[in-house]
Amino acid sequence: MFLRSIQLTNFKNHEKRSFDFSCKVNCFIGPNGMGKTNILDAIHYICLTKSYFNSTDQQNIRFGADFMRLDGTVTVKDQPYGIVCKLPVGKKKDFTVNDLPYKKMSDHIGLMPVVMIAPDDHLLISGPSEERRKFIDNTISQTDREYLEHLMLYNKYLDQRNALLKSLNAGGKRDDLLLESYNENLVRYGESIYDKRKQALSELEPIFRHYHQLVCLEREQTSFVYDSTLNTSPLAGQLRDNLSKQIMMERTLAGPHRDDIAFMLGDTRLKRFGSQGQQKSFLIALKLAQYHFIKAHKTFHPLLLIDDIFDKIDGERSRQLVQLLSGDDFGQIFITDTEEKHITDELGTKTGLFDIYKIS
Ligand SMILES: Nc1ncnc2c1ncn2[C@@H]1O[C@H](COP(=O)(O)OP(=O)(O)O)[C@@H](O)[C@H]1O
Ligand SMILES: [Mg+2]
Repeated sequence: MFLRSIQLTNFKNHEKRSFDFSCKVNCFIGPNGMGKTNILDAIHYICLTKSYFNSTDQQNIRFGADFMRLDGTVTVKDQPYGIVCKLPVGKKKDFTVNDLPYKKMSDHIGLMPVVMIAPDDHLLISGPSEERRKFIDNTISQTDREYLEHLMLYNKYLDQRNALLKSLNAGGKRDDLLLESYNENLVRYGESIYDKRKQALSELEPIFRHYHQLVCLEREQTSFVYDSTLNTSPLAGQLRDNLSKQIMMERTLAGPHRDDIAFMLGDTRLKRFGSQGQQKSFLIALKLAQYHFIKAHKTFHPLLLIDDIFDKIDGERSRQLVQLLSGDDFGQIFITDTEEKHITDELGTKTGLFDIYKIS
């Protein structure tokens, strides 16, 4: 996969900007606040139809402008694609590939797989379980169309079931048939999600260990523990159990929407005991594992976006990382940093395949 070019129009702080990219390493260099991260986000946007940072689409439109637009040209498995996203103020976006619009945005997921490594990723370790579900969902969805469909259906039935529980709690009439049909759908899609998450985590773990040992020179023992209500018994029974409690709480208390992943360092949860340095190397290894999981399933390299690369880890470890990234295990890469010197010191002219774009 090769992102040849991108054009940003009124995307965040960029009024108009175009880039033709190198097929290997692309560096955006410039002082803080100039919009380097925003450029990575524009690339993320055309890959996954949304910003990595803003959950509200409209926030991506440059202040005062009445639309934003992104144009990209990309080659995937020797096929050229022209991607255009137009988003007017107050309206929904229009996303086309080779001039054809999608019926659903989710149809785009998987065409241009991408992995982002950004400074506020620490939430993946220290934040709520939702962050870790998003991570595993993002990873599998980019390689498995059925997973994404099942996830969307599961969430739809979960919302409907919770609405029913709420109405029952308010004294609404009991409708056992309706409840049973929601249960059946939740079981059907929920078990599929559980199985695929379990499988993905077991594939991710050894790749993760490999990168963790490379990035982290202390050779700490690491593992993942998949924490799901489905580990102990089938979902069907759990949905039927404790119905009065579910009604009282107006929530479905079992199922993959409650899943978590415990990241372990030795016998302890990293979330509670890891130092900042340990958490950083863990995060990078996790993202590199995600990258290689996607690569193995798609049979080509996803794009890799690394924001503030030299901010992440200390000298020795960042040297390891850059050596790694410039090798053949990785494809096209986009990185940002404030100092050009960092990049040239680490990469030198070794690859002969990197471009520097000054953002000011
Ligand atoms: N919708 C928007 N319109 C205009 N400017 C924006 C918008 N969203 C963010 N910005 C601006 O972008 C700038 C930050 O860009 P960023 O990519 O984080 O910079 P860098 O990574 O180079 O430090 C901030 O000054 C912020 O106000
Ligand atoms: Mg930045």
